Amino acid sequence: MQMTIDFSGKTVLVVGGGRGIGKEIALTFAGCGADVVIGDYNADNGNQAVQEIEAKGRRGLFVPCNVVSRDEVDALVQKAVEFGGGTLDCVVNAAGVTSSSDTIQISEDEFHRIININLLGTLHVLQAGLRHMMEKKYGNMIVLSSVAGRTGSRTLTVYAASKAATISLMQAAAKTAAPCGVRVNSIAPGYVRTDMWNNILDGVSTGFSGGKLPDGYTAEQREADYDQQVREAVPLGRSQTCQDIAWAAAFLASDYAKEITGQVMAVDGGATMC
Ligand SMILES: NC(=O)c1ccc[n+]([C@@H]2O[C@H](COP(=O)([O-])OP(=O)(O)OC[C@H]3O[C@@H](n4cnc5c(N)ncnc54)[C@H](O)[C@@H]3O)[C@@H](O)[C@H]2O)c1
Repeated sequence: MQMTIDFSGKTVLVVGGGRGIGKEIALTFAGCGADVVIGDYNADNGNQAVQEIEAKGRRGLFVPCNVVSRDEVDALVQKAVEFGGGTLDCVVNAAGVTSSSDTIQISEDEFHRIININLLGTLHVLQAGLRHMMEKKYGNMIVLSSVAGRTGSRTLTVYAASKAATISLMQAAAKTAAPCGVRVNSIAPGYVRTDMWNNILDGVSTGFSGGKLPDGYTAEQREADYDQQVREAVPLGRSQTCQDIAWAAAFLASDYAKEITGQVMAVDGGATMC
């Protein structure tokens, strides 16, 4: 039997789909035949993603949205449902932010910023998506967690906490939605060198110290230290790609995963093992 993922006739919403992992998920779903709505707070990136979806011969729509606002997320899902002619088959939440700060240094402002976007934002997306899907009794949702949410992290302190909490939210949502036949899962990526890394690379490469970089620390040294971190943390010894994460999302959204709900799929080269 041949295994082919075909999303023809389906509509998918990717929140945080303007760049990075979310954008790759959007393009992969479009490549499998889906029409795709992008929700993001960066309009330039969102519009660019839609152009690339359309270049694949699919319909695309960008809706500006900050996930911290419940009203904006509700309006985004409403527009996605209308775009799909009354159906929305899958919602992925890839919107997220990170910062490098250890337990002693983290400020309350930073704590609230990260928790608001990563955790409250996930709640808003789950609520709006499930309200539609549970009424229609179909569909599935995917929430991006992180390897950091499963192992903890010395200086990605609140980021890791927020990502751990999204797993708990996902499990609660999966239990709530299951009686309606709606599935909810998480993907926990490992090390994917997207733009998200720009503001945490120094902290990670210097051994998660989060402190001032050593005098004379060069970009080359930083890359070498990053590579060593990856080799030490990842049994397969390498970073993951956005495409690695997108394949997992396509599988989880497909009927091949029809018996999978409430799960965390780690795509991390073995950095976490159960
Ligand atoms: N890159 C990695 O190594 C890695 C590892 C584990 C988990 N993740 C998770 O994967 C997801 C995607 O990460 P990425 O590396 O592609 O990051 P990224 O920074 O490249 O992309 C994040 C996207 O989310 C959008 N976004 C951020 N805050 C938003 C908000 N308040 N409202 C709406 N949109 C918002 C951004 O505009 C951007 O398009 C995130 O949830 C991240 O935590 C990434």
